[in-house]
Amino acid sequence: MPVSRVEAIVYGVDDIAGAIKYFQDWGLACRERTSQGADFALPTGQTVCIRSMSDAALPQPIEGGPTVRETIWGLDTKDTLDAIAAELSGDREVVRDHTGTLHTHDDIGLPIGFRVMAPGVDPGQAQPRGVNQSTEPGKLPTPIRIGHVVYFCPPSELRKASAFYTDRLKFRVTDRASDLGDFMRCPGSIWHHNIFFLSVMPKTGWNHVAFDVADVNEVLSGGHNMLKHGYKAYSSPGRHIMGSNVFWYFNAVCGGQTEYSADMDMTDDNWKMRVWERNPGADQWLFTAQDIVSQHR
Ligand SMILES: [Fe+2]
Repeated sequence: MPVSRVEAIVYGVDDIAGAIKYFQDWGLACRERTSQGADFALPTGQTVCIRSMSDAALPQPIEGGPTVRETIWGLDTKDTLDAIAAELSGDREVVRDHTGTLHTHDDIGLPIGFRVMAPGVDPGQAQPRGVNQSTEPGKLPTPIRIGHVVYFCPPSELRKASAFYTDRLKFRVTDRASDLGDFMRCPGSIWHHNIFFLSVMPKTGWNHVAFDVADVNEVLSGGHNMLKHGYKAYSSPGRHIMGSNVFWYFNAVCGGQTEYSADMDMTDDNWKMRVWERNPGADQWLFTAQDIVSQHR
């Protein structure tokens, strides 16, 4: 059952214009703007949908305020879509809408959907610069793909939450940290994680979505551009330990955070799941205020 990637995320927001501006400033291309909101498309064909939080067509929210209302997973074929419909409809309601997208819930009540992947271009891991090529100062990032989503999950529910994805959808756990949560990748994905359940407090909720950019330079140029537009960073730039990706998080107008991410570990079925009794820490390195001051001297 090759679920391959996050295909779409659907936000319900209170400030549609603000959310649209946020994603435009983030570097996404607006594909369609309607009275209901807007759809942003990535080069891969993945989409970010902005809707009003009062839109009755959206699944019920998992928390108050603006947040993600549904994560839709991308599948390789229509046969896979039909197989998932048959598999899941045995023990839960599965609704197929007029576009063919399936809508249901996972085992901790998160609204999820499934559809066949839209066509697009995914260059995989960025290639190093070639001979006689140079960097372009000030070049803003063009996010390549939606890399992963992260939800809060109560520690008491973590095993149940992950088992749905591993047992029913054949996701692989790449890193399991008892005091932090489970990182999982889709069976059709090479990336270290496509979903992470952050299990550090007794709540279910939305945390963040990561947009992969070409390289570390784009993480930093994108983040500086967001600061220039007046948005608040949620973190400093750094490099994670689990997944190895370089990151910079920003508080999103539409709820939770968005992350610029680059240079994540690629994994396949030869990867041995790592189990950490105590998580090895969030970061290999993280810029501090002192680093930033010294850079500007
Ligand atoms: Fe992330």
